[in-house]
Amino acid sequence: MSVSARNIRNAASLLHQEQLVAFPTETVYGLGGNALSDAAVSAIYAAKGRPGFNPLIVHVRGLEDACHYAVFSSEALLLARAFWPGPLTLVLPRRETCTLSLLVSAGLDTVALRVPAHPLAQALLHEARIPIAAPSANRSGHVSPTDAAHVQQELGQHVSMVLDGGPCHVGIESTVLDTTGGHIRLLRPGSVTPPMIEKLLGRAPERGAGGALLSPGMLESHYAPALPVRLNAVAAQAHEALLAFGPALPGAGFTCNLSPGGNLQEAAANLFRMLRHLDAEGARRGLTAIAVMPVPEDGEHNALGLAINDRLTRAAAPRPGRS
Ligand code: TXA
Ligand code: MG
Repeated sequence: MSVSARNIRNAASLLHQEQLVAFPTETVYGLGGNALSDAAVSAIYAAKGRPGFNPLIVHVRGLEDACHYAVFSSEALLLARAFWPGPLTLVLPRRETCTLSLLVSAGLDTVALRVPAHPLAQALLHEARIPIAAPSANRSGHVSPTDAAHVQQELGQHVSMVLDGGPCHVGIESTVLDTTGGHIRLLRPGSVTPPMIEKLLGRAPERGAGGALLSPGMLESHYAPALPVRLNAVAAQAHEALLAFGPALPGAGFTCNLSPGGNLQEAAANLFRMLRHLDAEGARRGLTAIAVMPVPEDGEHNALGLAINDRLTRAAAPRPGRS
């Protein structure tokens, strides 16, 4: 489907009727609902099968809208001015007057805001003139969708419309930074990398959630394909499909290569699509696991490798209950 102005108008009108609309962003596809409406936000949680303690990202047109809902520290302002619109989500204190559904914050007194750069996401936000809550448009714990067809396969019956913008060019979800309480804490690595943040603010982001479950994207098992995943493979085994990076391992059978030339941006853009393909096609061929070659993350030049390895580590983690 190519997206017309009429499609955008229909999508905006569905959002006003508390229906769900999937739409592309530069990172991954989002499962969107009216962020002012408890009914729409509940429908998102239900469609995803997402635990209610895992808060959602709210997408807005720009910084001015964002300031309406949340309080920005001076560092948060610098970050927003440098990286919005773009693949950065800021966790901020909710304003007292904030009219966003409390459900988007899942009981926290903070809210995660992002201004997406994708022209269709921007067109939808401008047409609808409401903030849009949108987690990645996959079932909870599964691989994020980077293509409209992935959304249809996984959530088709739960969404009123899928806006098809083709493949997402970043391919992994936005960087999530907690800026509350004077902290700059990296909750989820993404393509806005720690060296980029350090260059701007003159200090490196802290790592992790400091013990508490501040960002459930930090749940260990996530992005999980059906087949088990084995990391840092230095040899391919006969029962395994291979996710390669750089020159593929000798003797490998069914293989997808994230980037034969070793380019991390290309690898990020390919990651979720290839994991899905290896999973479905590997199982069809009777393979029983996915082996993954090492992806570098050391040094400023390889900083995006941190985000890729974060997703791969979670894809390989044990899957208790698999929510
Ligand atoms: O690239 C993206 O960020 C995509 C596109 C659609 O924008 N969205 C996305 O949303 O990945 P989701 O819901 O799958 O991931 C949101 C992450 C989760 O790890 C969630 O726990 C965290 O942000 N988060 C949301 N609100 C938060 C809050 N108030 N405090 C801490 N973490 C929060
Ligand atoms: Mg997600």
